[in-house]
Amino acid sequence: MKLKSKISNWNVSKFIFNREYKFSRKDILKYLPKSYMENAYSSITKWNNYSKTPLISLNKLSGELDIGNIFYKDESKRFNLKSFKALGGAYAVDIISKGMKNITISSATAGNHGRSVAWGAKRLGLNCKIFISQNVSKAREKTIEEFGAKIFRVKGNYENSLKECMKKSKLNKWKIVQDVSTRNYKFVPKLTMAGYSIMIKETSLQTNKYITHIFLQAGVGGMAAGAVAGVARYFKRIPKIIIVEPENAACVLKSIEKGKMTKIKISKESIMGGMSCNKMSLIPWQILKNTANCCLTISDKKVPDTITMLAKKSFSDKKIVGGECSAPGVISLISACNNKKIRYKLNLGKKSNVLLIGCEGDVDKKLYKILYKKGLKKFNNVK
Ligand SMILES: Cc1ncc(COP(=O)(O)O)c(C=O)c1O
Repeated sequence: MKLKSKISNWNVSKFIFNREYKFSRKDILKYLPKSYMENAYSSITKWNNYSKTPLISLNKLSGELDIGNIFYKDESKRFNLKSFKALGGAYAVDIISKGMKNITISSATAGNHGRSVAWGAKRLGLNCKIFISQNVSKAREKTIEEFGAKIFRVKGNYENSLKECMKKSKLNKWKIVQDVSTRNYKFVPKLTMAGYSIMIKETSLQTNKYITHIFLQAGVGGMAAGAVAGVARYFKRIPKIIIVEPENAACVLKSIEKGKMTKIKISKESIMGGMSCNKMSLIPWQILKNTANCCLTISDKKVPDTITMLAKKSFSDKKIVGGECSAPGVISLISACNNKKIRYKLNLGKKSNVLLIGCEGDVDKKLYKILYKKGLKKFNNVK
């Protein structure tokens, strides 16, 4: 069979179970209270052009893998930002600006968060200053600039851009909007996570099937923790939660393995750019340390194939535009199913209803085209 021959050799790089697993709605909602999530939902659903992102059935893939249902939450349709990130930074801007019009918003970013902040500031007619390191691509810079933000290029890495942002913001009384939480910086990151929980609220309204498994991509863990908080608030039954990371940037896996927040060294940046992070954010750690059932990592190898196959309707009846951070959910599910032991331990089968998050569309158009074309070559070769 065609699809089978294309995916039969996909595999997981590393897989671990969480020895400290103990899902407690009460504990999760202590870190991200219900009121945060409910306020985010009631605010964002009132924004212009709000609509639920599609929940697409990957019916061809579920047939091939012998899984009950596979749902793909297509965040490429999230406002005109084409990414779930629109729910985070932009919502935080909305709340901290408190209706004031004469303020300036600032942020340091590796790309996507800054776009969301810039878009959120533009929505409200606020000035916006975004700090990026020399590692951020020109294409990413352009997509932030498109929303009217002034860009500051800073020598060095992300940490240098954050330091410069903090220095300039203090001097000029700009309001900083970061998505990474630390001991002394929690409120704004909590707002971003509350925004992300909307994906789960929408899912609960889009299907009456009980979700049994969720694959959640992670960088610093904000998206995954926001989704887990959404599960605690909106789902009646608790699914298995599987955290997915690039093999070279597995800071969540490492932290869970060691039982404490652990910084890793990234030897090679992953093509899954937004997920290439070396240290978790604090609140996501507090939430994920007991709620992730397991963590797995994958290599970059199958990202181009997956992007092409999503677009070519290999997995579903509908064409899907999924970017480099959308692919890992699909790759992980296929790879987990290819490994008999993992499949068995996760209890993946005919009775499963799996949720995958298609985090983004072709946000970086240039990169999307390159990856699509690369995948297409192999796609045409395998019959
Ligand atoms: C585009 C993009 N950026 C970043 C991330 C990572 O999010 P976080 O840093 O909140 O874990 C993801 C998904 O995990 C993503 O899809």
